[in-house]
Amino acid sequence: MGWKLKTVQTILSIVAFYITSAVGEDEEPRSECADFNSTTWLEYRQQGSKLQLQYLLLTRKNTDCASLFSQESLSNNTSYFNSSQPTKIIVHGYRALGSKPSWVKQLAQALLRVQDANVVVVDWVYGASLAYNMVVENYKEVAIQISVLINQLQNHGCKLESFHFIGVSLGAHVSGFVGTLFNGKIGRITGLDPAGPMFKRADTFDRLDPSDALFVEAIHTDSDYFGISIPVGHADFFLNGGMDQAGCSRSRFSSMYRYVICDHMRALHVYISALNGTCPLTGIPCSSYEDFLKGRCLGCPGRCPRIGLLENSGLTVFPLPQLKKLFLLTTSAPPFCAHHILVQLEVFLLDKSAEVQVILRTGGHPETEQRLRLQTDGTMYRRVIAHPGPLCEIDSIQLKNTGAHFYRQGDIHVVSVCISEFPSVGEVEPLCVKKIDVRRGSPWNHDFVQLCENY
Ligand SMILES: *[C@@H]1O[C@H](CO)[C@@H](O)[C@H](O)[C@H]1NC(C)=O
Ligand SMILES: *[C@@H]1O[C@H](CO)[C@@H](O)[C@H](O)[C@H]1NC(C)=O
Ligand SMILES: *[C@@H]1O[C@H](CO)[C@@H](O)[C@H](O)[C@H]1NC(C)=O
Ligand SMILES: *[C@@H]1O[C@H](CO)[C@@H](O)[C@H](O)[C@H]1NC(C)=O
Ligand SMILES: *[C@@H]1O[C@H](CO)[C@@H](O)[C@H](O)[C@H]1NC(C)=O
Repeated sequence: MGWKLKTVQTILSIVAFYITSAVGEDEEPRSECADFNSTTWLEYRQQGSKLQLQYLLLTRKNTDCASLFSQESLSNNTSYFNSSQPTKIIVHGYRALGSKPSWVKQLAQALLRVQDANVVVVDWVYGASLAYNMVVENYKEVAIQISVLINQLQNHGCKLESFHFIGVSLGAHVSGFVGTLFNGKIGRITGLDPAGPMFKRADTFDRLDPSDALFVEAIHTDSDYFGISIPVGHADFFLNGGMDQAGCSRSRFSSMYRYVICDHMRALHVYISALNGTCPLTGIPCSSYEDFLKGRCLGCPGRCPRIGLLENSGLTVFPLPQLKKLFLLTTSAPPFCAHHILVQLEVFLLDKSAEVQVILRTGGHPETEQRLRLQTDGTMYRRVIAHPGPLCEIDSIQLKNTGAHFYRQGDIHVVSVCISEFPSVGEVEPLCVKKIDVRRGSPWNHDFVQLCENY
């Protein structure tokens, strides 16, 4: 217990350190452009407990230069706000040191590239920069103030279903509470790694849940630390199981960012990448990550849901499913998309347990590998590999008899090894090689000669 508390304190101070150092990387905004408030403990104590909420507006007419936005802007025809267009509302989360979030412009611009919309950024840095538990007390007040703005926008002709909230971390629960205040009639809420601490056991009234909007989705990337581990929407994407992300180091000797909030912020970066649209990020429904990795869930009736702006994430079932876990594997760097390759190995019955390493190679990409532990009571093994290229670009497969280091493992007699990609793009036959002996100390290799026709 003492250890854990200490760790959390250490982590919060590291987060604070990281956030301050990251601010320096931002270019100076042009003086006529509106920007976030920033605050310090001292200022906070002088100002008292007012939230100092403000809104910034970005549209296709001012993607680089935010303008301050308020009720008054609506009656002022110099404002770029257009009530016939959909409105995206970005809500940030906890800000340990009261600095502005550095990713806001990137997210707003990615949204505006896809959709002509009003992007309203909620700046509640002032109320988000106290001790975490005090901030959690503030979040409903923030939601109430946002709901006042939404009411004004409705009077101005905006439809409730045209609002799409994108909430990061604690911002996801702020968005959820705005949704509660409108009886779930707002259009959409996207939670980017919705905050976990103090919310996991909270009542659905207090946290993001599927009743908060017509469509609620979430991306989970740090559910063992800062994120929530339970599904909270109609579509919940758990990236790499939802806990530890590729390229985010578990070593204390790596940089502060990689160690502390890399997992948590990955949801945001993957979402921006999905908006950029270079490759699909598709989730596969499954009861558990374990089952997913064992190749027990390979697709969906119809199309599988996708991260991005597709209506209902591409879900076409009605009524919408609730609290479904969707799994996908990603790579460690943008654009993050991985191809899910299912490896199926069938062996003749073994008299001793054994281990085989399967390696897949696509020219120009790092190879990927998976170890399979073979037991004496089974002959079929299935395992999913996150590979950087599609099935039709896999040049070669290698099997190594790796158990031999530890004990005398004989040759492994393989009935067949097959690879296939899922969710499948059309009717694609798996690639299979049959009748192989994998000898100790001498890896087996096979080259595939194939053409990509479907890509
Ligand atoms: C935050 O911004 C608002 C509007 O620009 C301003 O009135 C307020 O004084 C600012 N608060 C702080 C603490 O800087
Ligand atoms: C309209 O907006 C401009 C710039 O934001 C501001 O200077 C002006 O006072 C506003 N006028 C009204 C009537 O609100
Ligand atoms: C908007 O601007 C035009 C001229 O640019 C002016 O004629 C009109 O009265 C203005 N409307 C409002 C509501 O301020
Ligand atoms: C507002 O949006 C509508 C629909 O996209 C468009 O037809 C109209 O021209 C826009 N108004 C302005 C002032 O840009
Ligand atoms: C998205 O695209 C923009 C502009 O092309 C680029 O600057 C940004 O790095 C991309 N972000 C991700 C996460 O792919």
